[in-house]
Amino acid sequence: MKSKCFEARVLTLFPEMFPGPLSYSLAGKAMENKIWNLNTINIRDYAEDKHGTVDDEPYGGGAGMIMRPDVLGRAFDENNPGREWKKIILTPRGKPLTQKKVREISSKPGVIIVCGRYEGIDERFISSRSLDEVCIGDYVLSGGEPAALILIDAIVRLLTGTMGSKESLIEESFENNLLEYPQYTRPFDWEGMKPPEVLLSGNHSEIEKWRRYMALEDTKKRRPELLISEKK
Ligand code: ADE
Repeated sequence: MKSKCFEARVLTLFPEMFPGPLSYSLAGKAMENKIWNLNTINIRDYAEDKHGTVDDEPYGGGAGMIMRPDVLGRAFDENNPGREWKKIILTPRGKPLTQKKVREISSKPGVIIVCGRYEGIDERFISSRSLDEVCIGDYVLSGGEPAALILIDAIVRLLTGTMGSKESLIEESFENNLLEYPQYTRPFDWEGMKPPEVLLSGNHSEIEKWRRYMALEDTKKRRPELLISEKK
């Protein structure tokens, strides 16, 4: 049975930023193959004055401009896909994005993503529309758009039909809370360095044992917190 086309619907002030990198490589191919599609909605189209105003000064004072809840509310409500979709707003105040969250989103019929801009978004919009606030890392971008591109890329690679081999999905970093083991390819001797002998042995159970060991050792050294946290 052919699975349904996953839709990413993005509310943004910069629709020209999309699909950008998503039209290349795996995501681009998957879009051509109708495994997923993208709809961008320009938030400015929902402004009511002739200047297309979407932001205003913060109550209480302070630097920067805040995105208005009335404009965002209209943009969201007129494009609200319904209960089954995941609803995300990208902000540096959100919960850190994890592979577990990406997997959850990819199991839905689609995702609606609101990209924040300027210094912030009126809190009433976020809470009234029950949006899941997500942050892609502890650093501040100039807006949610690059974060949306990253989030969509991570989702699309998990959709059925996007990746050639299911194994590569199971073995990669963060699945099973482990980083992926180190990899090697030709040439055999490069700058005097050779691949570990076990990988040339043809002994598949030994190779698997070595890979499991290396995945664990590298995770302990680089990201020990992955081993003690719940499944990410
Ligand atoms: N907008 C600005 N910075 C961000 C971040 N780190 N994650 C998600 N959205 C953002």
